[in-house]
Amino acid sequence: MSIHKILVTGANGQLGWELAQAAVLFPKFEFVFVDRNAMDLSKPNELKGIVELFAPDAIINTAAYTAVDKAESERELAHTINAEAVVELARITKQKNIPFITYSTDYVFSGNATSPYLPDTKREPVNFYGTTKAQGEQMALAENPNTIIIRTSWVFSSHGNNFVKTMMRLMKDRDSLNIVGDQKGRPTYAKDLAIATIHLLETINAGKDIKGIYHYANTGETTWYEFAAKIKSLAGLTCDLTAITSDQFPTSAKRPFYSVLDTQKIEQDLGISIPHWETALQQCIDKLTND
Ligand SMILES: NC(=O)c1ccc[n+]([C@@H]2O[C@H](COP(=O)([O-])OP(=O)(O)OC[C@H]3O[C@@H](n4cnc5c(N)ncnc54)[C@H](OP(=O)(O)O)[C@@H]3O)[C@@H](O)[C@H]2O)c1
Repeated sequence: MSIHKILVTGANGQLGWELAQAAVLFPKFEFVFVDRNAMDLSKPNELKGIVELFAPDAIINTAAYTAVDKAESERELAHTINAEAVVELARITKQKNIPFITYSTDYVFSGNATSPYLPDTKREPVNFYGTTKAQGEQMALAENPNTIIIRTSWVFSSHGNNFVKTMMRLMKDRDSLNIVGDQKGRPTYAKDLAIATIHLLETINAGKDIKGIYHYANTGETTWYEFAAKIKSLAGLTCDLTAITSDQFPTSAKRPFYSVLDTQKIEQDLGISIPHWETALQQCIDKLTND
């Protein structure tokens, strides 16, 4: 199998955009990026025709319903995009015998663990977004066991909406902020995940059998409060930060307290080493402040 032409959904999302930035460094691949207008995942029955139009050698699905709190009330739409469309893409790629890479989340886990989650740890989502992503994973793997699922966590980028950009904006506008300090996870720079995904394509082209569930996140673990404190120091901001508990910051969707992903499998299978989140954050903030 040789992958040359890759269809990428979610062109305007954090990961889709970072893949487009990284793509120029890998000219041996031809990437075709489609946004919601060109390929709408809320209409799974239209996907096959669109895929046939582009005739790709592989599909990377970065598009998703990612509004974690809103998913609690927009259940049908979230389920269609995160589960039904994913299984449909799994079906199409199986029929065409081409690789399918899709992304999932640390929120498929309960958050009750005390050591990092392995790819085969039992799914036990605590919110509806996590439920839709867990269903998408299970259904896609049942339909097409060659599906490649990369779970990631706490994604940030210089593009799109994320914690880093929100914090930088709020810290400039306000004198003080309360930040949740009792949830632990691994932040992920979408740029690093995009490059790892392209390495995954190269690994498939080198003949290695890659399938099933992988975890990718930057190394090191932190809390939202510590993450915010690092953003503040790296960006040279002066806002007062106070750590609060999840109980003091109620949201529609419950969050897992501990969602640290174990990434050893992807590091071994792709032969990559993953940068620390603080290094990645520095790069992202440099980009945000210099552009
Ligand atoms: N963000 C995180 O913290 C996080 C954490 C864990 C896992 N993940 C997973 O990582 C992957 C990439 O996430 P991300 O951070 O890049 O997400 P993102 O920035 O929210 O981007 C998601 C993209 O999906 C698109 N989209 C939404 N509904 C669509 C539809 N009906 N049809 C086609 N496209 C649609 C959005 O389009 P518009 O631009 O038009 O809105 C957006 O471009 C997703 O699978 C996500 O679940 C993300």
